[in-house]
Amino acid sequence: MVACPTLETDRLVLRPFRDDDLADQFAMMDSPEVRAALRIPDGAGLPEAFNAMASVLGQWELRGTGHWALEEKDSGQFVGSAGLNRPERHNWPGVEVGWTLHPSQWGRGYATEAGAAAVRYGFEELGEERLFSCIVPDNHRSQAVARRLGFELIEERVISFFPDEPEAHGIWALDRNTADFSR
Ligand SMILES: CC(C)(COP(=O)(O)OP(=O)(O)OC[C@H]1O[C@@H](n2cnc3c(N)ncnc32)[C@H](O)[C@@H]1OP(=O)(O)O)[C@@H](O)C(=O)NCCC(=O)NCCS
Repeated sequence: MVACPTLETDRLVLRPFRDDDLADQFAMMDSPEVRAALRIPDGAGLPEAFNAMASVLGQWELRGTGHWALEEKDSGQFVGSAGLNRPERHNWPGVEVGWTLHPSQWGRGYATEAGAAAVRYGFEELGEERLFSCIVPDNHRSQAVARRLGFELIEERVISFFPDEPEAHGIWALDRNTADFSR
């Protein structure tokens, strides 16, 4: 029994990561598009993909937050990850909602669909009053997901998530009292 719950949306199952997701997780992290967007360093391989999955699952156990593996209901295929992130970073704004899809799955609305489930979980299950998303200014697709979910840009500042690249992140926020739960 892991702390990460399994949820369903119209087209997706949001479930805990499993060891046999490793090849799919690596393929996603190794795609040029995801590497560029997430500033994944050259040379990241299976060990880094495994560490990412283990860290996600460990955060569920330790903090009750984490990302889910996203599985397409129709095919059972792994399409990406999304969820709630509360890393140990001194200047992190709070509980962050985030999303990453394999590029072959972009343009289908899956990130927004999973993001909406994460938002609902953050407000209804975790009791957060405000959720955040940290997005670099050139990541327009991620900004579009945030906007569709109702997040607004509240500030831009350097956060310590990418210690080797001290670039400013946009801090996007969504308040419980303005969130649309109809999705
Ligand atoms: C950020 C990321 C997850 C966004 O993916 P995305 O596919 O653009 O976003 P969604 O899954 O919500 O899909 C939205 C698109 O699907 C379209 N769409 C098609 N069918 C749809 C449906 N049934 N429902 C909703 N939208 C649908 C929308 O019109 C929209 O198209 P557009 O991009 O032409 O406007 C993706 O670009 C990614 O993985 N990037 C790399 C990792 C990353 O940057 N993560 C975020 C770090 S802050």
